[in-house]
Amino acid sequence: MDNQLRNEIYDQAASWILEAGEYIRENIDAPRSIETKSNPNDLVTEMDQRTEQFFADKIKTTYPEHYLLGEEGFGDELENLDGTIWIVDPIDGTMNFVHQKRNFAISIGIYVDGIGEIGLIYNVMEDTLYSAKRGEGAYKNDVKLPSLNQQRPLNQSILALNTTWMLPENPHIEHQGVHELVKTLRSTRTYGSAALEFAFVAEGILDGYLTMTLMPWDFAGGAILVHEVGGLVTQANKEPLNLLEKSTVLASRTNIHNEIADEYVNLKAKSDRS
Ligand code: IPD
Ligand code: CA
Ligand code: CA
Repeated sequence: MDNQLRNEIYDQAASWILEAGEYIRENIDAPRSIETKSNPNDLVTEMDQRTEQFFADKIKTTYPEHYLLGEEGFGDELENLDGTIWIVDPIDGTMNFVHQKRNFAISIGIYVDGIGEIGLIYNVMEDTLYSAKRGEGAYKNDVKLPSLNQQRPLNQSILALNTTWMLPENPHIEHQGVHELVKTLRSTRTYGSAALEFAFVAEGILDGYLTMTLMPWDFAGGAILVHEVGGLVTQANKEPLNLLEKSTVLASRTNIHNEIADEYVNLKAKSDRS
């Protein structure tokens, strides 16, 4: 993509994400109706829908030739990755938004023919924007993030992990490996927003993030950020991510990536994963 055009799209996306975030912040205490989607804990509010609608309107008006892949149904049905695609999660961490009124983010990944060009993650209540352009590094607000070249061993690493993967009945991953991993690590964290977990890996305050069931809008922006600081992002079995499918994800510093995937991750048969 031509650099001038990319800078223009970046500036638009950054201004829209800040505008959408400001609206959410100003209305954080407003009464809201909460509905459920795939299960009783899969929440959605009118703010999720309104925010996606905001991006859909802006993108379609300004860049009618671009596509939108979004969680709440205001985007396009895509069968391939041709063209310029905005992959948007209007509120990532809706449960945190509803219950905690913090620890949620707006996530945008802009891909051209499947290549990640621009990643933006906005921690709304902290007013912190993580951003990246391909080949230009990643930023937290105006501060460039250092590359993740430090070799930190697993026993000094903190990994974001959902501890329910330690239960034998979980449908995704053999729990014994997760037990061993948790015992080996310095510690684990669970923030409840995939986008923030990616941003924290990029920032270097987490050494990695392992998860089982992300949709493209959960990882599209974050994968670009982590790549730009020299981290690795793959499926948990080290295969490349597919932007059109639900996926496992392992994002981490390079030196622990193979070790986690090879020695601790043993996925259950794909048919068992929902
Ligand atoms: C969810 C969050 C959560 C992750 C879930 C996602 P949502 O996104 O990122 O951390 O564990 O898999 O669905 O529904 O709040 O946008
Ligand atoms: Ca999400
Ligand atoms: Ca969401």
